Amino acid sequence: MTALASVIDVYKFFGPTGEESPVLRGVSFDVHEGEFVCVMGPSGSGKTTLLHLISGLDQPSTGHVELAGQSLAGLNQHQRTLLRRDAVGYVFQFFNLMPNLNVTENVGLPLAIQGEKPSQQREKVVGLLEKLGLGKRLKAEPHQLSGGEMQRVSIARALAGGQPLLLCDEPTGNLSQKHGVEVMNTLRKVCDEDNRAVLLVTHNPRDAAYADRVLFLVDGQLAEDSTLTGPNIPVEDVHKTLAALQI
Ligand SMILES: Nc1ncnc2c1ncn2[C@@H]1O[C@H](COP(=O)(O)OP(=O)(O)OP(=O)(O)O)[C@@H](O)[C@H]1O
Ligand SMILES: [Mg+2]
Repeated sequence: MTALASVIDVYKFFGPTGEESPVLRGVSFDVHEGEFVCVMGPSGSGKTTLLHLISGLDQPSTGHVELAGQSLAGLNQHQRTLLRRDAVGYVFQFFNLMPNLNVTENVGLPLAIQGEKPSQQREKVVGLLEKLGLGKRLKAEPHQLSGGEMQRVSIARALAGGQPLLLCDEPTGNLSQKHGVEVMNTLRKVCDEDNRAVLLVTHNPRDAAYADRVLFLVDGQLAEDSTLTGPNIPVEDVHKTLAALQI
């Protein structure tokens, strides 16, 4: 199995002096092709920070991140941007939609960046939006959408780009049960049918149960003895592990 992302003994400190205790302390793991990996942990435990490091949006204080076989530390900012564009689809915790583009244009953005004309994109973009229950919101602008709708647009945009690794930061946090389950089924399918990989951050045990592996981040470290492995992780096992780790 090819590692799409490798996190190798990563520490992350914030602040100018680096004197504050690290948000991440010696975190190491891989995400392979076709794999669905979930990270759970308390609020503030460094989950979003970890996704930022893997996508090259931020850099570790020490340790290394490799993306698509390339060490991010060896690349300049422009090279990192290009690699991120090609290797990663990102569902941001707070959506990051372009406010001046409508729903269809937002979802088509990664395809436009890859050089596809709007007429070429349309079928794929509309298909994704319909699948996510947004067929009636194609021309809406972000400010006209509910939180759950914005979240689904952000998921459609990450899926549209076709990158081999999807980083999903609490993608069901604003969704109803019904839409949440649809999104999770879509993400599982992306792994099983397209051999893409998903790295999912969630607080929701129901979502974690879709994963092949669930990692628990506590006090900046992975609780390795508590890792759950699938397929078909019972949701009760996720609840039990969260309780045992006091998450
Ligand atoms: N750019 C930054 N500058 C300073 N501190 C930061 C920065 N980004 C994150 N932090 C701090 O790092 C810690 C981890 O933040 P992070 O957003 O990664 O947590 P999280 O696990 O994603 O939390 P949540 O579940 O609430 O989304 C927090 O204490 C946060 O304040
Ligand atoms: Mg977060």
